Amino acid sequence: MIYGDRIRLRANERADLPRFVEWLNDPEVREGISYYLPISQVIEEQWFENMLKLPRDEQPLGIEIRTEDGGWKLIGNCGLFDFKWRARSAEVGLFIGDKSCWNRGYGTDVMRLLLKHGFETLNLNRIYLHVYDPNKRAIRAYEKTGFVLEGRLRQARYKNGQYQDEFIMSVLRSEWDAQRGME
Ligand SMILES: CC(C)(COP(=O)(O)OP(=O)(O)OC[C@H]1O[C@@H](n2cnc3c(N)ncnc32)[C@H](O)[C@@H]1OP(=O)(O)O)[C@@H](O)C(=O)NCCC(=O)NCCS
Repeated sequence: MIYGDRIRLRANERADLPRFVEWLNDPEVREGISYYLPISQVIEEQWFENMLKLPRDEQPLGIEIRTEDGGWKLIGNCGLFDFKWRARSAEVGLFIGDKSCWNRGYGTDVMRLLLKHGFETLNLNRIYLHVYDPNKRAIRAYEKTGFVLEGRLRQARYKNGQYQDEFIMSVLRSEWDAQRGME
């Protein structure tokens, strides 16, 4: 487990798949991610089998929050991927499928924990992400975590009959260290 104050990141289990299918078919969740076709249990099982073939460092992780009775509850999925080990660079992504957990700071917490894991455990130097222009909640959460805008890919996405711009944001290890030094 990778522990934060209010959350933990854990290995995905086969038993999680029905919840992922439900969340990834939710139009509001999909608004911010690249999925645009319905997801079935079979497709998700294929995803799970392929995930198990990745090196352990590169496997996505389930996001859990503490519950009032002291237990843990799965709310989404996250991870580092597209590793370029020689450049020590990786992309990061997350989704919180349980919408009752949006806007409560969990996305920011997850991103902080992933940055700490990426820089201080995996020894990465650059962590970057893609986000669509209309996804203001995500952009705000990433800015709070220290991500800076690197570039705008104009009209890179087509969604709901319209083109959307896509941003690339990143954090460098030196920026992460400077941010930590100020705490
Ligand atoms: C995007 C996501 C990860 C963010 O996680 P979260 O826990 O909801 O976000 P947080 O609560 O940590 O931070 C959200 C911030 O955005 C702000 N915000 C929310 N809606 C906003 C809007 N329309 N415009 C501007 N800011 C907004 C919140 O007020 C908060 O900022 P604050 O703490 O300064 O008040 C989560 O909502 C999610 O998984 N959404 C669906 C999938 C998705 O879009 N994934 C990201 C793909 S790039």
